[in-house]
Amino acid sequence: MVHIFRMLFIWFLLLSYLRNSTSSDNLAVSQYIRDGETLVSEEGTFEVGFFSPGASTGRYLGIWYRNLSPLTVVWVANRENALQNKSGVLKLDEKGVLVILNGTNNTIWWSNNTSSKAAKNPIAQILDSGNIVVRNERDINEDNFFWQSFDYPCDTFLPGMKIGWKTGLDRTLSSWKNEDDPAKGEYSMKLDLRGYPQFFGYKGDVITFRGGSWNGQALVGYPIRPPTQQYVYDFVFNEKEVYVEYKTPDRSIFIIITLTPSGSGFGNVLLWTKQTRNIEVLRLGESDQCENYAICGANSICNMDGNSQTCDCIKGYVPKFPEQRNVSYLHNGCVPRNKFDCKSSNTNGFLRYTDLKLPDTSSSWLNKTMNLDECQKSCLKNCSCKAYANADIRNGGSGCLLWFDDLIDMRKFSLGGQDIYFRVPASELDHVAFNGHGKNMKKMLGITVGTIILGLTACACIIMILKMQGRIIYRKHFKHKLRKEGIDLSTFDFLIIARATENFAESNKLGEGGFGPVYKGRLKNGQEFAVKRLSKKSGQGLEEFKNEVVLIAKLQHRNLVKLIGCCIEGNERMLIYEYMPNKSLDNFIFHETQRNLVDWPKRFNIICGIARGLLYLHQDSRLRIVHRDLKTSNILLDANLDPKISDFGLARTLWGDQVEANTNRVAGTYGYMPPEYAARGHFSMKSDVFSYGVILLEIVSGQRNREFSDPKHNLNLLGYAWRLWTEERALELLEGVLRERLTPSEVIRCIQVGLLCVQQRPEDRPDMSSVVLMLNGEKLLPNPNVPGFYTERAVTPESDIKPSSNQLSITLLEAR
Ligand SMILES: *[C@@H]1O[C@H](CO)[C@@H](O)[C@H](O)[C@H]1NC(C)=O
Ligand SMILES: *[C@@H]1O[C@H](CO)[C@@H](O)[C@H](O)[C@H]1NC(C)=O
Ligand SMILES: *[C@@H]1O[C@H](CO)[C@@H](O)[C@H](O)[C@H]1NC(C)=O
Ligand SMILES: *[C@@H]1O[C@H](CO)[C@@H](O)[C@H](O)[C@H]1NC(C)=O
Ligand SMILES: *[C@@H]1O[C@H](CO)[C@@H](O)[C@H](O)[C@H]1NC(C)=O
Ligand SMILES: *[C@@H]1O[C@H](CO)[C@@H](O)[C@H](O)[C@H]1NC(C)=O
Ligand SMILES: *[C@@H]1O[C@H](CO)[C@@H](O)[C@H](O)[C@H]1NC(C)=O
Ligand SMILES: *[C@@H]1O[C@H](CO)[C@@H](O)[C@H](O)[C@H]1NC(C)=O
Repeated sequence: MVHIFRMLFIWFLLLSYLRNSTSSDNLAVSQYIRDGETLVSEEGTFEVGFFSPGASTGRYLGIWYRNLSPLTVVWVANRENALQNKSGVLKLDEKGVLVILNGTNNTIWWSNNTSSKAAKNPIAQILDSGNIVVRNERDINEDNFFWQSFDYPCDTFLPGMKIGWKTGLDRTLSSWKNEDDPAKGEYSMKLDLRGYPQFFGYKGDVITFRGGSWNGQALVGYPIRPPTQQYVYDFVFNEKEVYVEYKTPDRSIFIIITLTPSGSGFGNVLLWTKQTRNIEVLRLGESDQCENYAICGANSICNMDGNSQTCDCIKGYVPKFPEQRNVSYLHNGCVPRNKFDCKSSNTNGFLRYTDLKLPDTSSSWLNKTMNLDECQKSCLKNCSCKAYANADIRNGGSGCLLWFDDLIDMRKFSLGGQDIYFRVPASELDHVAFNGHGKNMKKMLGITVGTIILGLTACACIIMILKMQGRIIYRKHFKHKLRKEGIDLSTFDFLIIARATENFAESNKLGEGGFGPVYKGRLKNGQEFAVKRLSKKSGQGLEEFKNEVVLIAKLQHRNLVKLIGCCIEGNERMLIYEYMPNKSLDNFIFHETQRNLVDWPKRFNIICGIARGLLYLHQDSRLRIVHRDLKTSNILLDANLDPKISDFGLARTLWGDQVEANTNRVAGTYGYMPPEYAARGHFSMKSDVFSYGVILLEIVSGQRNREFSDPKHNLNLLGYAWRLWTEERALELLEGVLRERLTPSEVIRCIQVGLLCVQQRPEDRPDMSSVVLMLNGEKLLPNPNVPGFYTERAVTPESDIKPSSNQLSITLLEAR
């Protein structure tokens, strides 16, 4: 009897083993997995099985990350052809073809039989790279795989995958139709083989963006590689194949590049590590307007100046429609000013532009071995040649690219672009020399003129030099440092700043903060700026300050106020920022009449913009910046009412792995400070998340957290929002003027995100990448709990809180 029991027990164990672990790692001929069972990769990173996406009830065979929540599917087999119920199986047939059969054993999907070798002893296996392969039992050589899912990408570009062309295969990425339907959607990314092969993004047949061709180091459209080698790209270009791939040297890090069905088809780059099991957003959608393909039309260069985008004709070209001259979107581009006279090489020459994204190469000519001189000669020879450049920038440059048609989709980078030489008539060359672009001409002129003038002014110079030596030498060093780092930043003379601000006149004062007052300045040429004169008490050393400036200058994002220069002289340290005439967010949302100017879609745009800016501050992998004083008066609005975070510069920087820190001096503004910071001076990125949550709820409600009080319940704004939420009346939080033109689900989602951000415990608050995903509806939202500080002055007595010297604290550019 006992024996029988034992037998039964062993059988039971065996059965449950078979059921749960689903055989081993691979599928042999005639074996299959049913719906509900999965195949797991060796190290357990990926899993293959049936799933239903979003709200769909259809069943699909997919590959997903095993330990990642929410379910992150990276590949779908039967994306066009769902199974109607859970009766499907995945099976390896005798010929080594993977098939999905439905309840009546009809094949609804099969893997292609692309291998010329007849499949001998085939097995199917999911690899830890996320690739399902059919291979010979004993042969693990990638080249001999009979079939692999990496050859048929869906919406996700995984490390090791090759996007591009190989005989018989054109591997492209394509988005899902929507979150509930993995069928092919409208966005795709692929390599275009015309001319010099380039990486493109499409919406339908229309190009949305151009990653461009390979310059030996990177794609021309994305010249900066991430600072910490989190991934390395490679590009292979020969007769047999042309593809882009990337690798993650650190095996515990996974980068996921997905082309989401929402957004504008620019793709999102997500990162997760096995250790943190947390998805982080590296890049979400387009980073600025210049990324839109050919936004400036032909022969025109797109330039991002802070938030605003401008188009500039190449020298020698004029806007095709002159009435568009003042319009930043020169969609129609530029045409030559004069007809080119091409008869002799004396009548035209070349002008070098630096730091550019090379124009579209789909009809350009390439020679891989020519050097730049030979390249110039061959361009000169042919009258229709418009420009030339090195194809490969490694080792000082090699190869020759020639353009014969209009030059499309160029942009200026602040870091990492390439040199290109445009053909211009000689008359333009002279003209340009004085405009400061023709470097060589200018140098020559400089030498001749210089030698004459030198004699005359030697004495004066010597006196000047003696007087200003310290300053000049210093400035040279700093300029050199900036140039070495590839930073385009002006260093201003103290006198110029003093004059521009009328000697720091009280009438020009925009605000006063913990780090010092902010003034408005206006240069002789009319350009306006905001200058922060740092207080002398800061105690920061000169080197420290310079390093800080270099770091701040590198922070460029359309949702951050742009630093345009600095001034260091004696004890003076000043930061010069772009001026924002529209002032700050609080001037709109809390203002009696102005509030009507920001309807719900604009507010939602502002909410998302702040989140993106903050995400950039928190997760730019080189610097991790905690703002520490986020509030509506630190959010400035540009002419389009797009938000820009200001005053991030001197916030605390967290280095490398550091995620939190302590401070003795609590600076910040009451109403926005999270409990742990107000009480213990403990701050982390999650403190900013709290402040963000407050701002979000203020934007939705049009009420100041600090001033609001719920008459019946003695609650502040956070408490009030929480009460409405629990009573399922969240929409009532919305300000009256906003009740039109809104999507209720969007509002509710925002409020939920806001409440999650103001949770009492930092660890319960989402990080900014989750916030961004949640706002976009791409991540499930957990349910919020009671927020921190939900009753006015209940959690911490006010005496414990030392807000910085006054309410304006570190306010920039806010006229009061
Ligand atoms: C699936 O549907 C078929 C026919 O519609 C039915 O015969 C079968 O029982 C269903 N299987 C399951 C698991 O529901
Ligand atoms: C199985 O697929 C075949 C062909 O697509 C279809 O005709 C049949 O109805 C399907 N059966 C079930 C149970 O889904
Ligand atoms: C489908 O195939 C399986 C195994 O190959 C077999 O056991 C089952 O009877 C078949 N079902 C039908 C409806 O043909
Ligand atoms: C591979 O199979 C899919 C259907 O699963 C089909 O659309 C595609 O054309 C096939 N490709 C080749 C090269 O046979
Ligand atoms: C796969 O290719 C092999 C070799 O070309 C051929 O013998 C076999 O019939 C093919 N299988 C299918 C399902 O097309
Ligand atoms: C363009 O702007 C300049 C300066 O603001 C102005 O003088 C000129 O008239 C404008 N041109 C057109 C065509 O609007
Ligand atoms: C490239 O240029 C080199 C040097 O001018 C020349 O020898 C070679 O034939 C060219 N190759 C092609 C493919 O035109
Ligand atoms: C100039 O280049 C174009 C494009 O490659 C070509 O069609 C044309 O024949 C060339 N003209 C001369 C004079 O070589």
